[in-house]
Amino acid sequence: MPKTYDSLLEQIEGLLTGQDYWVADLANAAACLYHGLRDLNWIGFYIRRGDELWLGPFQGRPACTVIPFGKGVCGTAARARRPIVVPDVNEFPGHIVCDPASRSELVVPIVRGDNVLAVIDADSPLLNRFTDADLNGMCKIAEVLADRVKWDIL
Ligand code: SME
Repeated sequence: MPKTYDSLLEQIEGLLTGQDYWVADLANAAACLYHGLRDLNWIGFYIRRGDELWLGPFQGRPACTVIPFGKGVCGTAARARRPIVVPDVNEFPGHIVCDPASRSELVVPIVRGDNVLAVIDADSPLLNRFTDADLNGMCKIAEVLADRVKWDIL
């Protein structure tokens, strides 16, 4: 049964290690989101390294490893430091295909100050899957992860 974003947040916060081991925190967050939200075929993190986003913990099929800033939905959201909801990926110029099953997408940057640390990328096999409730809920999760994960070792 799908979970609310409030209960997902509670679950994700409960699993945070509080240690310098961001990979465990993000891996558990990806698993909670994948299993807690309906109609996703991929969800995970791309981690900022310089001017690129590198594949981090995720659930779903194998995905592209590196996305330059400004490219695809992820790179565009990272450069703008703003979330992007894509109702139909075929209508987004420059969308990068990882899993051809993906029809709609939500990307939310994880930001501290002016610094993009990572993005959360969610893909659905359904058109127009992501609502305002998803956008708001995922932004809240991104804020908590920005504050609570020990990103300094990146
Ligand atoms: N579609 C993304 C690429 C990442 S995969 O969907 C996992 C994009 O255009 O940035």
